[in-house]
Amino acid sequence: MRLIQENISSEFDAFSKNYKKDMIAVVPHYEVLLEVFLDAIPHDHLVEHVLDIGCGNGIVTDRLMSKYGESKYTLVDASAEMLALCRQRFLDRRVDYVQSYFSEFNFPIATYDLAVAGFSLHHCDGEEKQLLFKKIHTALKPGGLFVISDLFINKSDEDHPALLKEWEAHVMNHNPGGNKWAWLMEHYAAFDRPDNLENQRTWLTKAGFSEVKIIWKKGHWINLCAVKA
Ligand SMILES: C[S@@+](CC[C@H](N)C(=O)[O-])C[C@H]1O[C@@H](n2cnc3c(N)ncnc32)[C@H](O)[C@@H]1O
Repeated sequence: MRLIQENISSEFDAFSKNYKKDMIAVVPHYEVLLEVFLDAIPHDHLVEHVLDIGCGNGIVTDRLMSKYGESKYTLVDASAEMLALCRQRFLDRRVDYVQSYFSEFNFPIATYDLAVAGFSLHHCDGEEKQLLFKKIHTALKPGGLFVISDLFINKSDEDHPALLKEWEAHVMNHNPGGNKWAWLMEHYAAFDRPDNLENQRTWLTKAGFSEVKIIWKKGHWINLCAVKA
């Protein structure tokens, strides 16, 4: 198993090679948590412009395009390799690609009908999440939706050891040799800063979102939709 990289962009440059297979092996419920992005969007919601925050190889955008193929998409990610995969994947689509850290992205005002973040925000600490939630709220049009699939727990939470046990069972089931679990725990220590649902709900509300709906939840693996009034 390869070494842990120095920073998040090179970590994901390397991760891009077998991305979906690796994600299924290391993230419990990964495929369901991708599927449910569409369930979060009401049928009558106008989706003209979408922002994908931490697009990776474009897997969430691809899911959205199955329904909203004519919409415009803005894909933001720090990893050049991940964005290169998106460029190949979305050749004939209306897509802008932005290689940027979230903290350096210049969020426009009242521009998007939908912002999505699949398994990207747990890389930000609580302070950065709070800032981002405010910027995303400002970047959405009135009535806009912000949909997240991710792990929601703090490493200091009482049930964190139990989560790790369940998570290990999932990973060992896919990779009985154990080297994937060892790699994942190094990655988790170096790059992952998840926050629990209570904190994130509070920060979304503080950022101005009027409603936070849980679309799908199994333990601490959650898809939620925050609504801008
Ligand atoms: C686990 S992948 C998720 C990709 C995809 N959205 C999905 O659902 O599978 C996280 C992505 O977020 C990007 N990322 C993480 N933290 C970032 C940051 N602070 N700024 C920009 N991109 C970041 C990584 O480069 C990576 O491509």
